[in-house]
Amino acid sequence: MFDLSEADLEAEILGCGDGPASFNAEMTALGRSVISVDPIYQFSTQQIRQRIEAVYHPVISQVKHNAHRYVWKTFRDADALGQARLQAMEQFLGDYDQGKVAGRYRPEALLPRSKPFPMSFKKGATKCYA
Ligand SMILES: C[S@@+](CC[C@H](N)C(=O)[O-])C[C@H]1O[C@@H](n2cnc3c(N)ncnc32)[C@H](O)[C@@H]1O
Repeated sequence: MFDLSEADLEAEILGCGDGPASFNAEMTALGRSVISVDPIYQFSTQQIRQRIEAVYHPVISQVKHNAHRYVWKTFRDADALGQARLQAMEQFLGDYDQGKVAGRYRPEALLPRSKPFPMSFKKGATKCYA
């Protein structure tokens, strides 16, 4: 997705908003160095698993409903996408406890930028922080 080069992958990587994805687990298995930060890492494996199970069908049914808005090149359809995401999340969950102990999954959140972005379209609104 980010077209990382071999040189990029050899660096120490900070993954922001990595969520329940498998990048950290896969890179660690390859002997690479990734630290992931995401507020969801305050939750336990079981809590994250429950949330994944609760949202999987609603999310995939929305993708199916809006399938015509997607470019289906990497995945053949919404079910294939869903299966790939589930597989990645299983890989994450299998690595999560040991990764937390090792300090690879950290329950942190990036702060919003402090520089105000002027808004002119909404009456009464003068500042927006992105
Ligand atoms: C759409 S998900 C993407 C997760 C993952 N990168 C993936 O591709 O599966 C966005 C993630 O950003 C995290 N997030 C939201 N606000 C954040 C913040 N202020 N700092 C770091 N992560 C944040 C959410 O908890 C969520 O896991």
